[in-house]
Amino acid sequence: MKKVKRIGILTGGGDCPGLNAVIRGVTKPAHDHGLTVLGILDGFEGLVEGKAMELYNKDVSGILATGGTILGSSNKGDPFHWPEEFDGKIKIIDRSKDALKNYEAWGLDVLIAIGGDGTMHITHQLSQMGINVVGVPKTIDNDLEATDQTFGHDSAVFVVSEALDRLHTTASSHHRVMVIEVMGRYAGWIALHGGLAGGADIILIPEIPFDWEFVYDKVIQRNMMGKRFSLVCVAEGAKPKDGNIVIKGKDPKRTDPVQLGGIGELVSRKISENTGLETRYAVLGHLQRGGSPTPFDRILATKFGTSAIELAIKKQFGKMVALRGWEIKSVKIEDAISRQKLVKATDQAVLAAHAVGVSFGTEKL
Ligand code: F6P
Repeated sequence: MKKVKRIGILTGGGDCPGLNAVIRGVTKPAHDHGLTVLGILDGFEGLVEGKAMELYNKDVSGILATGGTILGSSNKGDPFHWPEEFDGKIKIIDRSKDALKNYEAWGLDVLIAIGGDGTMHITHQLSQMGINVVGVPKTIDNDLEATDQTFGHDSAVFVVSEALDRLHTTASSHHRVMVIEVMGRYAGWIALHGGLAGGADIILIPEIPFDWEFVYDKVIQRNMMGKRFSLVCVAEGAKPKDGNIVIKGKDPKRTDPVQLGGIGELVSRKISENTGLETRYAVLGHLQRGGSPTPFDRILATKFGTSAIELAIKKQFGKMVALRGWEIKSVKIEDAISRQKLVKATDQAVLAAHAVGVSFGTEKL
């Protein structure tokens, strides 16, 4: 059987800290095994349009601690759902044959795709066309069921926690309710972990629709007890029991057209109108995706990268590396994408938050 000699690697979807550490973790051992590595640029866009560069050790040296991705990324380049402009209108076409053509023309034996659930879905579809694939899970959202944690999440949580520490002092000085809106799409992991680490008094997440009255009660009660400020950490996908998710806009070119955003401002306004307390809000946005990965993410990303190249060499195609407990295992990509990992009301972090008095905007969970 033909040996694996040439690896393609790409980073798909939104970027996050730790992508470069994976690229390094794949490329260095690949060269030690005498393989060549082709870095595909801008995610699947590069695979469809034929944009790539050879990766040598010098290219991956010194990138462990840098955020972003040296290969570029995109969440608009789905080969099976390719947005093309015709007469000023966006038409969605299938360009997966171009992806296959480039894979073959480049002489690749395997494609290592680093990305979140959108990337893993596309990777799985490409494998059904005959492309050999290995997946590496990334996303600040931490919403992939098959792995205990994705790299990038810890770095995002660190940013949220630090932001809450900063808001804490100004909230307490001015006796205000400070609301911070964080990312995570339809999963509340960033808000839950960041809020817990940063001492939020109220955490609102998509999995636990909240009741406005409980939110107002919490900040009023704190005031009555002499705590004249409160910190609210709200996930961008959180929604009230009687309302909808707040959407900032739609972009048909994206794999997922929905752009979330605006719930932080709404929560801040409603608290002010209904309690008379002074409020301010901040949207952390892409600060959560930028900058240097935490040590945890650097280690996880390096382990993921080096395990992915091992899978590729052993021809364990169609698999994704995953963290299970303290060990790196592999799972079938098709199993990995079958379910999204959402916060359960029984999660230990939820219970711990509850035990120290955090409100989720509900009576009891
Ligand atoms: O999936 C990662 C993520 O940062 C989400 O938390 C967020 O909703 C989304 O990407 C933002 O995407 P974009 O950078 O395309 O606006």
